[in-house]
Amino acid sequence: MKKKILVTGGCGYIGSHTIIELLQSNRYDVISVDSCVRSTPETMRRVEMITGVNVHNYQVDICQKEDFFHVLEENPDVQGIIHFAAFKAVGESVDEPLMYYRNNLGALANVLEACQKFHVQNLIFSSSCSVYGDVKNLPVSEATPMGKAFCPYAHTKQIGEEMIQNMMVPNPEMNALILRYFNPVGAHPSGLNGELSPDKPNNLIPIIMHVASGVLPQMTVFGTDYDTRDGSCIRDYLHVSDIAVAHLKAMDYLIERKNCQQCEIFNLGSGNGVSVLEMLHAAERIIGQKLNYQLGDRRPGDVPAIYGDSQRANTLLDWHCQYGVDDMIASAWKWEHYLKNEIYDK
Ligand code: UD1
Repeated sequence: MKKKILVTGGCGYIGSHTIIELLQSNRYDVISVDSCVRSTPETMRRVEMITGVNVHNYQVDICQKEDFFHVLEENPDVQGIIHFAAFKAVGESVDEPLMYYRNNLGALANVLEACQKFHVQNLIFSSSCSVYGDVKNLPVSEATPMGKAFCPYAHTKQIGEEMIQNMMVPNPEMNALILRYFNPVGAHPSGLNGELSPDKPNNLIPIIMHVASGVLPQMTVFGTDYDTRDGSCIRDYLHVSDIAVAHLKAMDYLIERKNCQQCEIFNLGSGNGVSVLEMLHAAERIIGQKLNYQLGDRRPGDVPAIYGDSQRANTLLDWHCQYGVDDMIASAWKWEHYLKNEIYDK
């Protein structure tokens, strides 16, 4: 019998790709809870185009505890929660720290209380490699201690991880996995689902795509004087469908009680460090056009280089990346076409 999973932030970027993988495994039924303040209910139409399944999204703000708890009262058979819903823009978190603490930590507190009250024993939490801070010894593994948070966003992930660890103590029946993502990029290989960025995207790949398609006139490489091989920042990019599969495998792992500890942590990265300039040149090659970019100053809050060791997830979750940088760019480009034809030009 299929198990029911509640996905918070199901209309968002990683949430929707994870729902696709959960449904296509045929092992899970899914409900979504997403207020759609940073996403759109239209995402579920795209999920349906890909999977043939119409997933119900409860358009509810998880920070509103009573509304959120009603969803669980209506669905007493939920066996696992994957908690994606959070704000994630580094720069915005510097400008509006309280908004980040309230939203990201308030929502997580309600998710944890819901697990306790409704006896949901399996929880997966979206964390971030930003919890490591600026690390000198690369690649980072799960044993690398947390460093000083570079921004309030990263701090909410650090506190969030600790909240979960603390909740394990009085709730011995609860099990949690904390997944620390590096830089998820790209779109579903069908090109029918991807990241719906805000008007002015903050992240590298959506910006590259907007410049290539003419939505943005030009872009800037933030910093070319870092102590890296070409002076630009190095990150560990991985395909969003790979990260989605990791969540499916993580849920299987919890449901099958393969975890040795109540709460376990996994890095999710490709293990490859790629510089901003390398990414730009790869995009020029795949898309087949020159990109209009200038070399500029460093962006506040950026660490020079970070990439991860994901051996733990490789071994214990049997998770391996299927896609490389070229696939990430090609799928993002396909999605950019879809966006232009179906959304921007309508
Ligand atoms: C950060 C977090 C990541 C989080 C993500 C959410 C770190 C190490 N990582 O990713 O965990 O999920 O935010 O948004 O804190 N860049 C340019 N020009 C641009 C845009 C970006 O040069 O116009 C550069 C940035 O300086 C950076 C790289 O591209 O070096 C990637 O930036 P971005 O895509 O925003 O992700 P991170 O900030 O690395």
